[in-house]
Amino acid sequence: MTTTQAKADTATAAPLLDRLFDYVAESHPRSLRGLREAQGQDPKRFAEVAELYLRWLTEARGESGIEAAADAFAQFSTDVNLAQAHYERDGAYANKTFADVYKDHYSDAETMDGYLWGIYLTNFLWAHHFQIMMFFQDRFMPRLDDKAHLIEIAPGHGGWGAWALAHMSQATLEGYDISPQSIQIATGIAQAAGVGNRARYVEKDALDLTKVEAESADGCICSFLVEHLEDPQHLYKVLAHLLKPGGLAFITGALTAAQVDHIYEYRYESELVKMCEIAGLRVLETLSANPLRTLPRAKFMPRSMALLVQK
Ligand SMILES: C[S@@+](CC[C@H](N)C(=O)[O-])C[C@H]1O[C@@H](n2cnc3c(N)ncnc32)[C@H](O)[C@@H]1O
Repeated sequence: MTTTQAKADTATAAPLLDRLFDYVAESHPRSLRGLREAQGQDPKRFAEVAELYLRWLTEARGESGIEAAADAFAQFSTDVNLAQAHYERDGAYANKTFADVYKDHYSDAETMDGYLWGIYLTNFLWAHHFQIMMFFQDRFMPRLDDKAHLIEIAPGHGGWGAWALAHMSQATLEGYDISPQSIQIATGIAQAAGVGNRARYVEKDALDLTKVEAESADGCICSFLVEHLEDPQHLYKVLAHLLKPGGLAFITGALTAAQVDHIYEYRYESELVKMCEIAGLRVLETLSANPLRTLPRAKFMPRSMALLVQK
């Protein structure tokens, strides 16, 4: 594949995205089709989001950040495909307890570093996750006041919160994650996005957040944590505790989608809706998105669901 063929094919100039496409074409050619699928859904918006995320990445990680993150993305995507194949064979996720995942995964700095940068890119490079980014931008962000106080639970790389703050000139954010790597990366991304003075990240278990002041958040972001817990119902109660009456939360979760750190196996979209309702959260809107291509004759369709909810 020549450099010209690999170009991101965008109408507007997107030099960092071009560089990513070139590198993937050369070093991870099997991933290129997926990138083109994500881009093809809305090339203009894709280029805008991708260029923004890649600029923050290079500012936070230095010039070689794009290539390193692309390697992490390719590794992460391969690991996910393998985990899904094992899940198809076994009919259950490999890990059952949070303690196992914490020991082998969350507490391991090198593992978490690659994992979080890989996930950072999946936000827009996986076609169905790009759909969820558009849901966040179209349905969640416009409903928040410019001065909103946000709490992000399990920010990981911190991209969601930084993106929200970049749109809201006076908003503030507190983020809580169990992984020290997350605190470091999310802090770097917020600084790169020019919102570091309005974001603060603290290492803390999400399930302990009932000790944070009740009804203190205008908005909560909690993306891809519910499936990582043994008892996710408690997390929805935490969200209800943190939100002011009328406050909004953006929640995402994975269903029948295996990953090394997925524990709770959601099978139906209604299960997430029900958990919100039990916790006293009104479900305003939902989106269930799935990859354009899956394993042939698969029993399980991996889905990612986004919910916009209100206390
Ligand atoms: C799949 S990543 C999601 C990152 C980001 N929110 C996103 O949507 O791309 C899961 C994150 O949850 C964090 N995490 C897992 N269990 C947690 C817990 N009990 N409390 C806080 N964070 C947790 C992990 O450290 C990791 O950063």
